[in-house]
Amino acid sequence: MERIQKVIANSGFCSRRKAEEYIINGKVKVNGKKVTTLGTKVSLGDEITIDNHPLKEKEEKEYFLLYKPEKVISSVYDEHKRVTVVDFIDTEKRIYPIGRLDYDTTGLILLTNDGELANLLMHPKNEVEKVYLAKINGILKKEEIISLKNGIEIEGRMVKPTYLKVKKINKETNTSSIYLGITEGRNHIVKKIIGSFGYKVLKLKRETYAFLTLEGLKPGESRRLTIKEVKKLYSLK
Ligand code: URA
Repeated sequence: MERIQKVIANSGFCSRRKAEEYIINGKVKVNGKKVTTLGTKVSLGDEITIDNHPLKEKEEKEYFLLYKPEKVISSVYDEHKRVTVVDFIDTEKRIYPIGRLDYDTTGLILLTNDGELANLLMHPKNEVEKVYLAKINGILKKEEIISLKNGIEIEGRMVKPTYLKVKKINKETNTSSIYLGITEGRNHIVKKIIGSFGYKVLKLKRETYAFLTLEGLKPGESRRLTIKEVKKLYSLK
């Protein structure tokens, strides 16, 4: 049992002082009955209304960083019953991934129930950098690298990597691995970029998301973000 003004304030609806005013002014009901006494105790199942609007419970926000393995769907639910990113996280909260990684892409993905942060990070104007490591079935020519660095058009819109570095070249197998920093969130964007030069992505891993890395995690492992990290993500706006 909790004091009613505390429950109202904790829900995030208003301050404790304001809640007391609402109670004294007869605007608060518990299970349909007006309550005007400060300190009235209520319990979890009681229905509280203010001006006849039900008080919504404030859901505590949770934030996770997952090292997504291959063959995992980046959604909350899959109609074909395939494993989803949410299956790797131990929480009762209704979390969902911020953006998507393809079924065959591995790497860093964030999950939360904080819609405000999710919107902020996915909004194109905020240009959050994601660095991918792509293994491709070829070796980019010098002029292709220059052209990519200058920006290329994909489906009618320009995309210009914020970072481009060749990590490894294997002349025997005619494959190479390149790092690509991308700020936008279009689906399959890395595969489309590589495809525009006539190559295919053989393997794709997201190494970073803004300042966050996969350090200390193996595929399938996750960790909670620290408060400091969440604040830093909010400050990217
Ligand atoms: N670009 C892709 O092509 N696939 C991903 O999963 C992420 C970025």
